[in-house]
Amino acid sequence: MSKLTSKKINIWGAFFIMVPKIARVSPAVFSAWQIIAVAHAISYGVIAPVTQYFFDSASRFASGQAKWPDAALGLVFLAAAHAIKQALNGTANFMNLQYYRKVEGVLATELHEKISGLSPVSFEDTQVLDEMNKAVQGKDEAVWYAGTILLMLTFYIPYFVCMAFYLFGIKPLLVVSLALVFSPTLITQVLRAKVFSKAEDKSAPVRREFDYYECCITAREYFRETRILGAFAYFRKLYGDSLVLLNKIRFRASAKSDMAELGMQILSLGGYVGILLLLVDSLLNGEISVGAFAAVFGSVDQMFSLMKELIVKNFGAVAGNFGRVRNYLKFMQMPVRSGCDVEIDKNADITLSGVSFTYPAARESAVTSVSLSIKKGETIAVVGENGSGKTTLVRLITGLYLPDEGLISYGGVSTEAASMSSIFKNISAVFQNFQRYQMSLRVNIGISDVNTAADDLTLGDVCAQAGFDKNDTGFANGYDTMLSREFNGVDLSGGEWQRVAIARGLFRSRRGRQVIVLDEPTAAIDPIEETKIYNRFAEIAKDKTAIYVTHRLGSVKLADRIIVMKDGRLAEQGTHSELMGFGGEYARLYKAQEQWYV
Ligand SMILES: Nc1ncnc2c1ncn2[C@@H]1O[C@H](COP(=O)(O)OP(=O)(O)OP(=O)(O)O)[C@@H](O)[C@H]1O
Ligand SMILES: [Mg+2]
Repeated sequence: MSKLTSKKINIWGAFFIMVPKIARVSPAVFSAWQIIAVAHAISYGVIAPVTQYFFDSASRFASGQAKWPDAALGLVFLAAAHAIKQALNGTANFMNLQYYRKVEGVLATELHEKISGLSPVSFEDTQVLDEMNKAVQGKDEAVWYAGTILLMLTFYIPYFVCMAFYLFGIKPLLVVSLALVFSPTLITQVLRAKVFSKAEDKSAPVRREFDYYECCITAREYFRETRILGAFAYFRKLYGDSLVLLNKIRFRASAKSDMAELGMQILSLGGYVGILLLLVDSLLNGEISVGAFAAVFGSVDQMFSLMKELIVKNFGAVAGNFGRVRNYLKFMQMPVRSGCDVEIDKNADITLSGVSFTYPAARESAVTSVSLSIKKGETIAVVGENGSGKTTLVRLITGLYLPDEGLISYGGVSTEAASMSSIFKNISAVFQNFQRYQMSLRVNIGISDVNTAADDLTLGDVCAQAGFDKNDTGFANGYDTMLSREFNGVDLSGGEWQRVAIARGLFRSRRGRQVIVLDEPTAAIDPIEETKIYNRFAEIAKDKTAIYVTHRLGSVKLADRIIVMKDGRLAEQGTHSELMGFGGEYARLYKAQEQWYV
């Protein structure tokens, strides 16, 4: 089973994973964007020396030491430097935004592909569901995260390097004192990263509960039952409780990091005042020119606000979001289900040998040591009490889940060795908990085989076989009627939905699928109609391997063989009369039902 790898991802590790991902989206635009960012940084850095030049030339002109063209040139330089800075600023911001949008789309697709490649059993695992939830949340953060670090490297750092050279040239002590001013803020942000990453781990499971309770109150599939049960207040309380808990986690994290930040900011401010005093002192001692004083005085403000932006806004965001980014990256490292694309022989028998399976987080196995051979073309009925392992067994046979012990093979190919698509290609299955797509009737049926045209003729065929008559229910737009109230369509009854699901399975089975599985999709259909459907089903499945699960033992007589499940084990197998003669579990179940029919 695929679980998260415990490999630690640190701040730089995440950066080095993300940058190639981002660059790959459009390498040429990416390179141009980075070059512009560096040019942007230099344009900021150049402002201080140009300002110094302007003030010095102006003061020389004022004291009669220079002529006016000299001062005018200073003004032209200053204006040009500002104009270039503004132009580069606009271009860099525009490129940032455009590129991010593009990357977000690409990463979303990559994430969806990842999810679809996971072993389906992962979705039974609450831990994996948590990770998935966190990964979806962290995906966009990851782009901003890497983009922000890039911006630090291509804009903020080159800018500060330019400024450091400039300040060093004027007075070396200035560089040292600047560094002292900014280090407290840097330390706070490292603390912040730790605090928020911990809080994120704590809040993910709570958020999942919180979202679920909200769904129980507002979602369409829940609200009727919630009202009738009078459970509204109950769910609201649970919702409120998890909200309180969630806020508590967030509040504690924010309070911790805000307190630290406040303390450090006071230290920084002291340093800032110190620098100003140092400047004034140097000017009065004649160590620096008026121009240098003006330029440094002007740029300390800019440096302070850029450094604050870098540390608090950018680095802070990086640190605060790192928990989510790490979750996203960890999720993307989760192994997808392996297996090779192989051609499975359509005439192959299905063999189960010593198959056991336990759901993630379950204590007991749902299927235990089942050995069974299903001949090509055989019709098998699977019966047994609730929870006896019928659904799990068919999920294993269809290759949806892989056994923990034992082997299931189609011909010589085990479900473990083959890729999901090569197994599923051969199978049409309708499960107990089938989907009700909020889409047209045509899509609801045709979705099972998107490579086959869902034309009216074919749909008419499969609907008739599934006992579904679209004329019965007054579908205004025929097969294009929406099966959704939310999208201006109609809703169906439970039994009608089941027939649509069966039609979907039949539509898929038309094109050479050799195995067809029905896991009790008929529970809401009356017994007489169910028998009719199964009879038609047997007709269609004549030359296919068919497996159907049912509780109604009246329908199983037409199977070649009946498999009886009990407590996850294969208890008995044989024909109806053999099993009745045997007088075991099947006979007991049959007699119990017979009473109801008599
Ligand atoms: N997602 C799950 N996580 C943990 N345990 C599960 C999960 N799904 C099923 N089980 C357990 O596995 C066992 C077999 O369940 P399964 O759904 O296969 O039974 P079933 O025979 O199909 O029952 P039913 O007639 O009610 O459909 C049960 O004990 C059930 O509690
Ligand atoms: Mg079941």
